[in-house]
Amino acid sequence: MITERANLQQELEEDRLRTDRLFALLSPDAIYERPIPERHRLIFYVGHIEAFDWNQLCRWTLDLPAFHATFDQLFEAGIDPTVGHVSRDSPSDWPKLDEVQRYNERVRQEVDRVLDHVPEEMIHMAIEHRLMHAETTAYLLHHLDSAYTCKPALESLCLSGEVATDEMVDIPDGTATLGRQGDEGFGWDNEFGQHDESVPAFAISRYNITNEQYVRFVEEEENLLCFGHGKANHGDCGPCFTMCRCRFSGRCM
Ligand SMILES: [Fe+2]
Repeated sequence: MITERANLQQELEEDRLRTDRLFALLSPDAIYERPIPERHRLIFYVGHIEAFDWNQLCRWTLDLPAFHATFDQLFEAGIDPTVGHVSRDSPSDWPKLDEVQRYNERVRQEVDRVLDHVPEEMIHMAIEHRLMHAETTAYLLHHLDSAYTCKPALESLCLSGEVATDEMVDIPDGTATLGRQGDEGFGWDNEFGQHDESVPAFAISRYNITNEQYVRFVEEEENLLCFGHGKANHGDCGPCFTMCRCRFSGRCM
């Protein structure tokens, strides 16, 4: 029987591959770039995801001694700018990529060695944190000049299994309880503060939008897209809302 813990370990392994694939898209020159002025240089995120796992799971949960305290601290939060200014650190303020990669490899070995002793809730947290950074890293890469990235191997984007439909599910109006209470255990900063919201009826697609559906949408709605600086007037909706409203006949999702 596959236990919940074994599933978590497998998921962590798969999600490591996901973040590895993202960073593998970068050319060596791109690692020290800062695609968005308010964010860190990309080298920070290369070390941060592993440093987070090590600090949270091994050092602070199991009280293991540091093997590289400088990197533990540097990649915990990065180099802070002075208050009211964007970051002014330079590439030479950061370690070499191969040093960070060696640190990452050691972190994974150490985490895997003791993972059976880490509470499942903390493993969930590490996985969620990694996936959040996968999403924000993908966003950062979109702000990089394409000369800094290489195309992914097409096979790595192919998924097997059933093809999702674009079936919509109607959700009736009602009250949604959002957030969590302060004594509910681990949560991210913005999750606390439980409160009720009344939500009008809406419809949502049963499955995530696939690449194929998205391409079809772009081709069908080419003249209506208003990403960033709108070509068409869609009020205050952001790009995602705009896409859904156009695609699904006026229903904002
Ligand atoms: Fe983080």
